[in-house]
Amino acid sequence: MTRAAVTAVLLTVVVAGCTPQDGTDGAADPAVARGEAIYQASCMGCHGGAAGGTISDIPPRHNAEGHTWHHADCDLLDIIADGLPDRPGLPEGAPTMPPFGTALDTDDRQAVLEFIKTWWTDEQRESQQRTTEQICDLGR
Ligand code: HEC
Repeated sequence: MTRAAVTAVLLTVVVAGCTPQDGTDGAADPAVARGEAIYQASCMGCHGGAAGGTISDIPPRHNAEGHTWHHADCDLLDIIADGLPDRPGLPEGAPTMPPFGTALDTDDRQAVLEFIKTWWTDEQRESQQRTTEQICDLGR
């Protein structure tokens, strides 16, 4: 291996080792930290991380570039629990959103959603909060 190649490999390792995968400052909240661990293990492979992607990606990006923040909490939590059926219009070979209702309990599903929210802008969080208040039965 040439010196340049060795340097490139080392750099890759260093950068991969040091770059935060999530770009969140919410890890102080234990629920968010748990949500992050769940996300890394169960969601990241399909949905990607904190940055990049476009609003039309399938699987959708959950970060600020995607459309997850357009949907109310109750709808997102239902999708995480129940998955989504295959539908016409999905690109050839697209994966299916699996149901996590058995693998993750209610608190886990809520935690992963709270972690996803750390990627949104303040405006997106406020807008999504209003959508949630309009659509979900919040028990008040
Ligand atoms: C095997 C790949 C795969 C995995 C793993 C996966 N998803 Fe998905 N998910 C998808 C696909 C594909 C869609 C879009 C389906 C569609 O458009 O009909 C989707 C859609 C969603 C949606 C609704 C769309 C939106 O606006 O965000 C949510 C919420 C979601 N996934 C959350 C999660 C969470 C949370 C996890 C981990 C606990 C997860 N997904 C794991 C493939 C996956």
